Amino acid sequence: MRPLRSTLLGFQPPAIGEEEIAAVTETLRSGWLTTGPRAALLEERMAAFLETDHVLAVASGTAALHLALLAVGVGPGDEVITSPITWPATANVIEHCGATPVFCDVRDTDLNIDPALVPALVTERTKAVLPVHFAGQVADLDPIIALGLPVVEDAAHAAESAYRGRKVGGISDASCFSLYATKNIAAGEGGLVATNRDDVAEAIRNMRLTRRGDGSHYDQVTAGFKANLSDVLAAIALVQLDRVEEHARIRQRQFDLYDEGLAGLAGITPLVRDPRDVHALHLYVVRIDADGAGADRDAYQRGLADELIGTSIHFLPVHGLTWFRERYPGQEPLPVAERAGAEVLSLPLSPAHSDDDILDAIDAVRRLHERFSA
Ligand SMILES: Cc1ncc(COP(=O)(O)O)c(C=O)c1O
Repeated sequence: MRPLRSTLLGFQPPAIGEEEIAAVTETLRSGWLTTGPRAALLEERMAAFLETDHVLAVASGTAALHLALLAVGVGPGDEVITSPITWPATANVIEHCGATPVFCDVRDTDLNIDPALVPALVTERTKAVLPVHFAGQVADLDPIIALGLPVVEDAAHAAESAYRGRKVGGISDASCFSLYATKNIAAGEGGLVATNRDDVAEAIRNMRLTRRGDGSHYDQVTAGFKANLSDVLAAIALVQLDRVEEHARIRQRQFDLYDEGLAGLAGITPLVRDPRDVHALHLYVVRIDADGAGADRDAYQRGLADELIGTSIHFLPVHGLTWFRERYPGQEPLPVAERAGAEVLSLPLSPAHSDDDILDAIDAVRRLHERFSA
């Protein structure tokens, strides 16, 4: 069978236009290659957008998580409870603090950490809980915060999310965002920590860059990192922030097209989105149950590639990746996460795509479903 398309439909290409290009050019002409006025403006504007007291711009979402954990006091010998359905960086930074990630199973509905399972994992070594807002759906934060431990959120997917009327960014001790190329506010690379805690903001300010004093007399109050954000990237993020609502409308339309176009396909179901929350619509994830869909996720992914439709897998459970598996042998199974890891497939979604692009992706899934179910 001939593929539907003549060119590859990228999974999540960035929506970069002339305004971003002009902003970069202007920044280069200004002479600010490193952290400068645009990074400061991004912090100010993101603090207003997220309705939070402080936003600290850093080099990546990974750096945001690392510094936030250090800032709430995570250190050697501690444990941090987190979700296995995430990008490995979430768990890696726990290791970088000298602490141990304790993986908690997720809910079948939205693949976010299951708050009912967290209390049983708390020990005298537990220093923090690190929930992940998977795909843009906020984790159920209230029962986690009620445990009384510091909470650092992985909000890499949640730049526009809200939890029961409160914007992500001002709810827990710290919320960590990513400006990576695929994210809702994309600069290529970059990250942000949002917090209402003055002490957390100050600690991150001291750690993200070895602090300088006046003139030649510099000093440092801690062994800092090199985790600051360049103005060139901040300039891109500022334009993306201007376009956040326009892009959200496009992503909403793409979600609606998928919801409608894939409805009724046996064995193919989107993740549940909680109507009480604002979903950031970052990833359109379906679960493919081979019993109903006639073939497994990997067969669908290969079939879609043959149709020139790019897809991605979010996520393979982190505790099963070689390094974590070998480092922590004999871990308890996490059945919901493990099953999801074999079933999830993320479909093309981007403000750079047209409705017709998304309709092509839907047609390709339907074509495969018909073939696999025959
Ligand atoms: C859930 C999650 N956490 C953390 C990160 C790390 O962010 P960054 O790539 O900006 O370091 C990502 C992805 O990029 C992610 O998807």
